[in-house]
Amino acid sequence: MGVSLVVILPLFWIGVTCQVPGYSINVASSVSVQEGLCVSIPCTFTAEGVSTFTNAIGLWIRTDTNPWHIVASNDESRPGEKPNFHLTGNPDTGNCSLTITDARRGDEETYYFRYENRKDSTKSYSYTSAKHNKPRITVTDLTEEPVISDLGTVIAGVEKTVTCSPPGNCPATSLTFQWRKSNVPDIWRENSPAITFTPSLDDNGTTITCEMTNSKGTTTQRTIRLNVYSPPNITITWEINGKQNNKPDPIRVDEGSSMILKCSVQSDLEVNVTWTDGKNKVLQHGSGKELKLQLYNITTNQTGVYTCSAMNEHLTRSTNISVTVQYLFIIVNISITSSKGGVLPVSQQVPIDPAETLTLACRVDGYPTVRVVWIKGEFRTNISTVSNSGASAMVNVTSSMADVYRCLAWNEIGFKEQWIRVGTKQESTAQPVTDSVSLRDIAIGLMCGLSVSVLIIILYTLITRKKLSMNKKYVKAEEPPANVEPSKDVIYVNINASHSKPQVQRVMGRSM
Ligand SMILES: *[C@@H]1O[C@H](CO)[C@@H](O)[C@H](O)[C@H]1NC(C)=O
Ligand SMILES: *[C@@H]1O[C@H](CO)[C@@H](O)[C@H](O)[C@H]1NC(C)=O
Ligand SMILES: *[C@@H]1O[C@H](CO)[C@@H](O)[C@H](O)[C@H]1NC(C)=O
Ligand SMILES: *[C@@H]1O[C@H](CO)[C@@H](O)[C@H](O)[C@H]1NC(C)=O
Ligand SMILES: *[C@@H]1O[C@H](CO)[C@@H](O)[C@H](O)[C@H]1NC(C)=O
Ligand SMILES: *[C@@H]1O[C@H](CO)[C@@H](O)[C@H](O)[C@H]1NC(C)=O
Ligand SMILES: *[C@@H]1O[C@H](CO)[C@@H](O)[C@H](O)[C@H]1NC(C)=O
Ligand SMILES: *[C@@H]1O[C@H](CO)[C@@H](O)[C@H](O)[C@H]1NC(C)=O
Ligand SMILES: *[C@@H]1O[C@H](CO)[C@@H](O)[C@H](O)[C@H]1NC(C)=O
Ligand SMILES: *[C@@H]1O[C@H](CO)[C@@H](O)[C@H](O)[C@H]1NC(C)=O
Repeated sequence: MGVSLVVILPLFWIGVTCQVPGYSINVASSVSVQEGLCVSIPCTFTAEGVSTFTNAIGLWIRTDTNPWHIVASNDESRPGEKPNFHLTGNPDTGNCSLTITDARRGDEETYYFRYENRKDSTKSYSYTSAKHNKPRITVTDLTEEPVISDLGTVIAGVEKTVTCSPPGNCPATSLTFQWRKSNVPDIWRENSPAITFTPSLDDNGTTITCEMTNSKGTTTQRTIRLNVYSPPNITITWEINGKQNNKPDPIRVDEGSSMILKCSVQSDLEVNVTWTDGKNKVLQHGSGKELKLQLYNITTNQTGVYTCSAMNEHLTRSTNISVTVQYLFIIVNISITSSKGGVLPVSQQVPIDPAETLTLACRVDGYPTVRVVWIKGEFRTNISTVSNSGASAMVNVTSSMADVYRCLAWNEIGFKEQWIRVGTKQESTAQPVTDSVSLRDIAIGLMCGLSVSVLIIILYTLITRKKLSMNKKYVKAEEPPANVEPSKDVIYVNINASHSKPQVQRVMGRSM
């Protein structure tokens, strides 16, 4: 088909149009472009009867010139004289496409294409005959509006970059761009085709306008309206043993208990929600308005920061919550120093000389913060509390004050007691040894969610009921921490006087 055309057509046209056989061009005869804008002119050609070549040269030439005024070419030795004319087609594939950028009035003219064979110049050819289209370029006034890039989803607080460009997406070096915003008086951004801004909710419904101006001073513009979304609002609440909370942070939770962390996301936008731990490990993910993270049988190594994140392709918002797992840890360490000098070995029977003063120190450590107090006497006899609370308690004992001294240490979740009997040397009959409330008991109490600090109150209540000498003011000062939750289960400690062995008993129901 191609072959027969090449043969027949030249025969037919010979002498009529003076067309040389085997040379044809397919290009528009007239092209219009607006001043400052650009245009691509598709063009194909054949030469020597074919449309593929090796090392072909293509030239675009202004018709009104002699010698040639080459405006674009692929021949490095004869580059185009108009920097805004580009031979974008590859002549080796029969492509003579021409692109004009940043069109100026002075570009108005008629241009023709020339093919050159580097080896055989007799085969070179200018497509100038009447039969061949020679594009006539017309440069008109700028009327086309600029194009503003798609803003996508605009979210308050999330930075956006927006660009304004001439239609046709061409490089436009002579065009300038400036921006207006309806809630900004005067010019918003000057002389920049691309701007970056951070929208706020106040920008919702405002418009932004890009003004494009060419070198002649003609301006066109385009306006878009901003629809600004609120970022997702994340609220974390939690439930421990069925009780809802939203403060405090950090959350304090007893070892062994279970809790649910609930992340509520308020959002107009579709978001994926995740719970991650401090190591960024995803613990739970979902896409709804609420995502729960259930923690069962909490262990101390679950202490840490938990993060709920709401994210989509545009943004990520997250909120942290700290969880502190409380575990019992109370160490009571009694030491005895004598006024006669020296540290006495700690035993539960401590002899005292009439002339001597013993300083009993009860040092405690623990978590959460432990409070400590010395109690003088048996529960059923003369009881008075002595000393201070804090990390250690001290009491000075003389022989006239010989008695049983109890060091009570407690925190929000635990209680521990140790006692010693200070006796004059003659008192050799050993009293039965009081067991301290063992860690195991405390641990049981802890597992049952008992507040042993409440127990302290109970102890005092019992003490008070015994109507023995009582320093009310002092007891008041020694009350357990105010943040003890009043609605927890309670242990009563029954002290059997003859054995002085506390029995820990769990009482169901609410205290007080
Ligand atoms: C000619 O080249 C231009 C610019 O590279 C291209 O856009 C066009 O598709 C090509 N035409 C043909 C027919 O290959
Ligand atoms: C933004 O304005 C539109 C109406 O112009 C309204 O429907 C939308 O709720 C507003 N968005 C915010 C986040 O206020
Ligand atoms: C986020 O949600 C909380 C609770 O629903 C609300 O009190 C708060 O005002 C919200 N914040 C924003 C910025 O919408
Ligand atoms: C939340 O916690 C993570 C991990 O500990 C930390 O990297 C991030 O900075 C925290 N974010 C905030 C807002 O505190
Ligand atoms: C929690 O511990 C209890 C008792 O140790 C056990 O029966 C239960 O299966 C544990 N639950 C989970 C979710 O591990
Ligand atoms: C946390 O401690 C428990 C037992 O106390 C153990 O089974 C678990 O693997 C530990 N988890 C991590 C993350 O260390
Ligand atoms: C949520 O996550 C899924 C799976 O990773 C993803 O296909 C989807 O696009 C995400 N949705 C949003 C709103 O980010
Ligand atoms: C008690 O304290 C003394 C000195 O303060 C120390 O030497 C001893 O190791 C402690 N005992 C315990 C069980 O911590
Ligand atoms: C109780 O002890 C105080 C001093 O600590 C003493 O004055 C008082 O007589 C004692 N009462 C009884 C009943 O032993
Ligand atoms: C105990 O006695 C010593 C001096 O022997 C004194 O420094 C200290 O303050 C006394 N402590 C108390 C609690 O009375």
